[in-house]
Amino acid sequence: MSATQQLKDEHQGILLMLRILDKIAARIDAKENVDPHHLERIVEFLQIFADRCHHGKEEDLLFPELEKGGVPREKGPIGVMLVEHSQGRALVKGMAEASGKYKKGDSTALFELAKRARDYIALLTQHINKENNVLFPMGERVLSAKKQEELVEAFEKLEREKIGEGTHERFHQLLHELQERYLV
Ligand SMILES: [Fe+2]
Ligand SMILES: [Fe+2]
Repeated sequence: MSATQQLKDEHQGILLMLRILDKIAARIDAKENVDPHHLERIVEFLQIFADRCHHGKEEDLLFPELEKGGVPREKGPIGVMLVEHSQGRALVKGMAEASGKYKKGDSTALFELAKRARDYIALLTQHINKENNVLFPMGERVLSAKKQEELVEAFEKLEREKIGEGTHERFHQLLHELQERYLV
């Protein structure tokens, strides 16, 4: 599988988590209780799977190769993607803080969490659409098959070093569990 295809598959996992998060935000609006443990695990998924691992692969490995192939960074698509990654990081940080407050008994923190969750869902959904439909097709034109292969190997190394063996599978298991709980 090519490196860009692997990132598109990860987008599917992230989009699934966003659908779960959207259901949770709706429950919060309806003043229903939400399991604080689920919120913690979702925040952890966004911090580790979506940001450290997926955005890490893009920022440290894919984007530099695209730049070498002539895709512009400053005032170009890569620059926009980087800004959106950091906006996402700030929203997830806010969600982590709200989730921590809720766990300690502050139920009003849930509304703060729902607001940031919705902003994050909107941000990441359009971000993923741009990568899937604009940036990655551009990348597929500039990257050779050999470069795609080298990137896949570098992705594996990054996963081992940044998130550790087996973590990816653990997050897929979490997605599956939460999907059964919230999306049926
Ligand atoms: Fe991205
Ligand atoms: Fe991405």
